Amino acid sequence: MAAVMRFWKLCVVFLWCAMSLPAFSRAQEEDFMRIWPENPVVPFGGFIVLNFSANCENIAVETSLSKVPAGDGPSWKAFNFTSVTHWEPQILCHADCEKGKAKFQTVVITVYRAPKRVELDPLPTMEVGEEYNVTCRVFNVAPIRNLTVTLCKGNEELHKKTFEDHNNPEASDVVVTHSITAQQDNHREEITCHAALDMRPEGPLFEKASPDKSYSQSRAVYPPEQVIVELQKSSTGQSWHYDLKCHVIRVAPLSNLTVTFFKGTERLISRKLWNYTKAERANVTVIHPIVLQPGDYGKEATCHVTLDVSPHKEPFTATSHKLELKAAETYRAVTVAASAVATLAFVLVGFVIYYLVWAHGGSK
Ligand SMILES: *[C@@H]1O[C@H](CO)[C@@H](O)[C@H](O)[C@H]1NC(C)=O
Ligand SMILES: *[C@@H]1O[C@H](CO)[C@@H](O)[C@H](O)[C@H]1NC(C)=O
Ligand SMILES: *[C@@H]1O[C@H](CO)[C@@H](O)[C@H](O)[C@H]1NC(C)=O
Ligand SMILES: *[C@@H]1O[C@H](CO)[C@@H](O)[C@H](O)[C@H]1NC(C)=O
Ligand SMILES: *[C@@H]1O[C@H](CO)[C@@H](O)[C@H](O)[C@H]1NC(C)=O
Repeated sequence: MAAVMRFWKLCVVFLWCAMSLPAFSRAQEEDFMRIWPENPVVPFGGFIVLNFSANCENIAVETSLSKVPAGDGPSWKAFNFTSVTHWEPQILCHADCEKGKAKFQTVVITVYRAPKRVELDPLPTMEVGEEYNVTCRVFNVAPIRNLTVTLCKGNEELHKKTFEDHNNPEASDVVVTHSITAQQDNHREEITCHAALDMRPEGPLFEKASPDKSYSQSRAVYPPEQVIVELQKSSTGQSWHYDLKCHVIRVAPLSNLTVTFFKGTERLISRKLWNYTKAERANVTVIHPIVLQPGDYGKEATCHVTLDVSPHKEPFTATSHKLELKAAETYRAVTVAASAVATLAFVLVGFVIYYLVWAHGGSK
């Protein structure tokens, strides 16, 4: 059964071929018109030679483009379109065929303009965890449907945009915006923008990247994790001489940090760390030497930190815990004073007793 079926199938295919082949060759012999290359691609302002062939007479072309003949033969004519300064121009080819019938064919030239300028908008000083828009501009490029814009951070691809649905053939500027969240390594990894105009296979592939400089200023801002104030006996060892120390933990950038010491509500000193160039997150200790007085006993010291990256961000502020100012000298002074008073009182009492005893004894 299966063998018989296969035989019949073969027969049907053979018969179909036998009947349609002559029809195809007749169609071939009939009017034909060909334009070569089939998908012409040319840079804006450039030239292109097109070959129009047909088995008909009086091959002619109609177009708004300027053209010069570039050869002909019995069944073909070539033209050089010397300056293609229209976007997506059409060329109509026609010829007179058998029995007075005319044949027409149209070709559309794809006109491109390679991307010459690709730029990233400058990035602000970035704060970790915050979202920022990265904007890439590709200037004067066509056709946009063949353009791909890629945003990269280091070697990592952040965002890729294509424009297949863009129908306007004219050159224009393209803006691609992508939102990124600032991460800890943003000050090291650079952001770049790449534009690729792919005219293959008929034309070339053009690639252009944004220049190196415009994005390197991006810097991470880390508010301090902790602000600790500490009181230590001065290394000079002098009585009442102390160092107020303010430890600012894991902060960046140091250059925008201001550390202020307070004794109660009294502002002692404000230090700006402008000379610190380190961009990475770091710990920094600011030392303020002070001379305590017995009157300071029980007062509280605080350390106040401001991280000012304005105008990009509101300044960040942090205050340490309150540290009670307790000088070791305070106790010693109290003890010394107390014992002095005690000694004095003892001596006085002694004198009084002696006087009374002596006076009484003397009067007897
Ligand atoms: C144009 O096409 C015809 C037929 O395809 C060919 O014979 C001829 O050489 C071509 N002329 C040019 C200038 O390419
Ligand atoms: C340009 O883009 C269109 C649409 O995506 C595509 O069909 C065509 O092949 C591209 N042209 C070239 C020359 O690559
Ligand atoms: C922050 O630091 C940068 C670089 O050190 C400096 O240019 C900028 O003026 C500083 N901003 C403030 C508000 O201090
Ligand atoms: C910045 O200057 C202060 C004194 O003005 C100095 O103690 C400190 O070491 C300097 N720091 C750097 C990183 O130069
Ligand atoms: C900064 O201080 C914190 C807490 O004391 C510590 O864990 C960290 O290792 C320090 N980092 C640096 C870079 O010194």
